[in-house]
Amino acid sequence: MNLKHSILPFLFALMIAFTACKNDPPEPPEPEPPTCNTENITYENRVEAIMEQYCTACHSGASPDAGIVLTTYEEVKSQALDGLLYDSMAHNSNATPMPYLGQKVPDCTLAQIAAWIADDAPES
Ligand code: HEC
Repeated sequence: MNLKHSILPFLFALMIAFTACKNDPPEPPEPEPPTCNTENITYENRVEAIMEQYCTACHSGASPDAGIVLTTYEEVKSQALDGLLYDSMAHNSNATPMPYLGQKVPDCTLAQIAAWIADDAPES
């Protein structure tokens, strides 16, 4: 085999490898994690939708589970401030985990509920 033929492509590849390295663009910065808005959470602008998405299927109507209705501001507020609304959603050990037999709500949703309660559960 001709030495020249076997070594030249190798050198060429080596050259490309080095130049490629030198000209590599800088690593793109890590993408920012999606932001979670926990400012000014109210029943009307967020909490009602969370209840409808995760809770009212069982906690509404004439025979709600656990006797807990979560379809109006007053009822949700009362569970939030005097009940186990947060603890059940956070899967804390002092409450039955909610949604019942379901997956915990996303971290951002839980953080919004916590912020709302810390703010004394405003309606609007
Ligand atoms: C699939 C039906 C279902 C869904 C969905 C559901 N619940 Fe419940 N919930 C139940 C049942 C059943 C109980 C009674 C469980 C028990 O204590 O044995 C209960 C009990 C509770 C309790 C009392 C917990 C305790 O430890 O006494 C709270 C508070 C509650 N639910 C809030 C919620 C909230 C908030 C959501 C939405 C994030 C939700 N539930 C979604 C069925 C459901």
